[in-house]
This record gives sequence, structure tokens and C-alpha cells, in this order.
Amino acid sequence: MKIDHLGIATKGIDEALKFWANALGLENIHTEIVEDQKVRIAMLPIGESRIELLEPTSDDSPISKFLEKRGGGIHHIAVEVDDIVAALERLKNRGMRLIDERPRTGAEGRLVAFVHPASTGGVLLELVQAT
Ligand code: CO
Repeated sequence: MKIDHLGIATKGIDEALKFWANALGLENIHTEIVEDQKVRIAMLPIGESRIELLEPTSDDSPISKFLEKRGGGIHHIAVEVDDIVAALERLKNRGMRLIDERPRTGAEGRLVAFVHPASTGGVLLELVQAT
């Protein structure tokens, strides 16, 4: 396994890029709207991982709610797994609370599933299928 990306909630990607790209020096290699999650994302590689900037595309986006409650900041950690269905099964069998019982299509067309913070010690965890 590896950390596929760190998801960072922001009111606006363009504004966030002033820090992450212009000032820090990372490169934004991919921007995409993920309709299913009502977010626009930008992916900035950092070592073998990435920073994922998340901007809400509507008021009822999960990111809108997060920004209201906590302001911007780290929203989730994404771990790459070889077999996402097996990983979900394993977690479920151990009584872990899943947000997604089945994988769905996330950014970059990859299969993803979220694990509830109640089971992880307060971290929203995203599983991403290895490509
Ligand atoms: Co993510």
C-alpha cells in the first residue's frame, strides 16, 4: 500500500494553487470535475504521492459542508490498495464503518470507496484501486 494522495478542501482551487503551485513549486498535472462527489479537483504530484485540491461545485457538496464546519484543510487521506473489493470486505468483516459498501468511480476514473472517520480515529479514509 501507499498514500495515493492527501485531499485538501479549499474554497477555490485557483486561489490554493497560488500556494501549492506558484509558491511551493508543485505542478498541477490534472484538473477534473467529479460530478458524483460534486467537486472539482486538481492533482499535484509530490514524490510517489499527490496533493489533491478539492473545490465544491455546489452548495450541497460534501466539501461545502466541510468548509462551513471547519474551513479549509486536510479533508481525507487516500490509500492505494491492490484489490479494493477485498479491502472493503476485510474492513467490513472486522466491524469497520464504511461510507461506501461498494466501490464507485472517482477522480481519474479509478475505483474508490470511503471509510467512516468513526472507525479510523477521526480520519476520513479513501481507498483507491491500484491501476
Ligand atoms: Co481523494
